[in-house]
Amino acid sequence: MKLGCCYYPEHWPEAIWAEDARRMAAMGLQLVRIGEFAWSRIEPEPGRFDWGWLDRAIDTLAGAGLRIILGTPTATPPKWLVDRMPDMVAIDEKGRPRGFGSRRHYCFSHEGYRAEAARIVTALAERYGRHPAIAMWQTDNEYGCHDTVLSFSKAAASAFRGWLAARYGTPEALNEAWGNVFWSMEYRSFAEVDPPHLTVTEANPAHWLDYRRFASDQVASFNREQVEILRAHSPDADITHNFMGFFTEFDHFRLGRDIDVATWDSYPLGFLEQFWFSSDEKRAYLRQGHPDIAAFHHDLYRGCSGGRWGVMEQQPGPVNWARFNPAPLPGMVALWTLEAAAHGAELVSYFRWRQFPQAQEQMHAGLLRPDSSEAEAADEVRQAAAVLAEIGPQECASAPVALVFSYEAAWVIGIQPQGASFRYLELVFEAYSALRERGLDVDIVSPDADLSGYRMVVVPTLPIVPEGFAQKLAALDVPVLLGPRSGSKDASFRIPDGLAPGALKALVPLTVTRVESLRDGVAEAAEGFVVTRWREDVASDLVPELTDAQGRGVVFLHGRVRYCAAWPDRALLRLLTGRMASEAGLALLDLPAGIRVRRSQTCVFTFNYASEAVFVPHLRGVLPPASWHLDPRQTPARPPLDPR
Ligand code: GAL
Repeated sequence: MKLGCCYYPEHWPEAIWAEDARRMAAMGLQLVRIGEFAWSRIEPEPGRFDWGWLDRAIDTLAGAGLRIILGTPTATPPKWLVDRMPDMVAIDEKGRPRGFGSRRHYCFSHEGYRAEAARIVTALAERYGRHPAIAMWQTDNEYGCHDTVLSFSKAAASAFRGWLAARYGTPEALNEAWGNVFWSMEYRSFAEVDPPHLTVTEANPAHWLDYRRFASDQVASFNREQVEILRAHSPDADITHNFMGFFTEFDHFRLGRDIDVATWDSYPLGFLEQFWFSSDEKRAYLRQGHPDIAAFHHDLYRGCSGGRWGVMEQQPGPVNWARFNPAPLPGMVALWTLEAAAHGAELVSYFRWRQFPQAQEQMHAGLLRPDSSEAEAADEVRQAAAVLAEIGPQECASAPVALVFSYEAAWVIGIQPQGASFRYLELVFEAYSALRERGLDVDIVSPDADLSGYRMVVVPTLPIVPEGFAQKLAALDVPVLLGPRSGSKDASFRIPDGLAPGALKALVPLTVTRVESLRDGVAEAAEGFVVTRWREDVASDLVPELTDAQGRGVVFLHGRVRYCAAWPDRALLRLLTGRMASEAGLALLDLPAGIRVRRSQTCVFTFNYASEAVFVPHLRGVLPPASWHLDPRQTPARPPLDPR
C-alpha cells in the first residue's frame, strides 16, 4: 500500500514546491493528488490555457520521486463559465438556483456543461495523458457532496422525460406502473411529467424512485464521459473517483464498474459527529471514531470496482465541517492507515499536505500547519510508513460473510420511511457491527454479486428483490438472514401481489399481514432483546424461532433461511449472527468493546479503538489506546511485532 497526500500547488508560492516535494518523500509518501479544483488557474479565461504552472508543479513533484494522481477540475466550474451559461447550475428541491461561490454548482443533466466538462477533461488528458509521472486520474471530486445529486432544473426535467420514455415506452404504461389513477395524477404524454418536487403534499413514491434512479444514472453517465476521454488519451494510467462516507444518493456499484480503483474519503471523527450515533457512542469514540466507521466503507468500496480500492482523503486532525471537530487521539492517524492496509487498500492519501490559512477550509488540519511546521499527524505518517515497509504488501483474506447492500433499498426506505427512525444505513451498519464485534471478516456486496463461496449471507433489508435473487439465495445452502421489509415492494414501488415478502416467500413461507412503526423510546420486551422501531405481523405455519413477550413471532426459520419481522436491536443482531455463524461452523471471537480484528493473507491485525488500554483475550495481553497489534499468520518463524 502506498501513502500519499492531497496537495494544491496553486495555493502556495512556487518557490516552496520543491521543498514541499522533498519533505513529502522524506515523510514516506509516494503519491500526490493535485489539480481537482484548479480550473480557474488552468483556464483563466475561456479558451486561454495556462499550462506552465501545472507542468512545473508536476515536474517538481515527479522530480522528488512522487507519482501523481491528477484530478479533473469539473467540481469547480469557474465564474466565467457560469456567467456564460447561467442555466448550467443545479436547482435545489425548493426551486432555488445553487449559486456561485463554493463548488459543485453544476447540474449533471445540463448538456452545455457536459460539453464544457468534456472539453476541459480532453485538454488535460491530451496534455498529461502520457506523462510518465501520472499514475492515476481522479474524475471530478466527490459526486453528490453538498447534496448535489438531485437537481430540479429544466435540463434535468427534460432529460428525465427522455429517461421515462425509454423505460416505459408509453404514458399509459407509466401511469399503470406508478398507479397514477390515484388522485387523478394521470399523464397524457411524457412531456407533461415534471420532477417530483414542489408538490402540495408528498409526490407519488414511484415518481420519486424513478427520479432517484434517473439522477443516479446521470451521475454514472457524466462520469463515464470523462472515463472514455481519459482512457483514450491515457491508456496506461488507472482511473478512480473519490466516494464519500455514509452516502447513498447514487448507485456506487454501477459507477464503480467504469473505474479501475474505487477510492473514498475517510473522516471518522466528522462522520461519528454528523450521523445517527448515540450520545454515549459519540462520547466514547470522540477522538477515534466508531470502530466500524472506516472499516464499513473499506469493505463496501472494495466491492465497488472489482476489488481495487483505497482511501483518497484521510482525516489527519480536526476537520472544519462537523458540528464539533475534535482532534484524534495520538496514534489514530497511524491506526486508520494500517487498518486500511488490513482491509486490502492500495493507497491512503492524507487530506491535505498543508492547512490553507484562507477560505472555507482554513480550520481544517493538514500534515503541516499553515506556517509549514509539522502538525501532530506527521510523525504518525512516518510511523505508519515504517510499519508498512516492514510488513510488505497486504491482500485481505477472503471474508466468510457477505452483507448485501443496495442503493435502491436506501432510496426506497428514504422515500417512504413509514417510521422516522427506520434508517437504511443505520440498519446495515448495525448488522455489520454485530458481525465485526465477533471478529468476522465481511464483504459488503451488491445484490447482483456472486454469493457462492460465502459461508453466511446477511440481507439487512431489500424491499425490491431483483430478478433471480431469491433463486440465487436458494441455491446457496448457507445460513441466510433476511431483514424486515425485504420483498415489500416491486420494481414500481407497489406492494407485491400476495403481499411481502414477495419473491422471498420461496425461501421462507410466510406472509406479512401488517406493519407498524414505533416511536423512539418504545421498546417491547422479548427474551434477551427488545422489539423497537418496527414490527410486522406475520401469518405462517412456521413455529417462530423467537417471539416477543406476548408470544408473537419475531424471527422465523425455514431450512437455513431466517426472516426477521422487526427492527433488530443490537442484542437480536448479536444473537442471530452468532447462531448463524455457529451453524456455518465459523469460529467467533468475543471482542471487548473497541477491539476489532481483520485478517489479511499474511497477518492478523488487532486494533484498539477504545480510549483506554484494553485486555484482549486472543492476544493474552493489553493493547494501549489507539494502538494495534500484528500477528504474522503465515510466517511463524518471524517474531510478532511489538504493539505500536
Ligand atoms: C472532502 C472534499 C475535500 C475537502 C474535505 C474536507 O469532502 O473532497 O475537497 O473539502 O472534504 O474534509
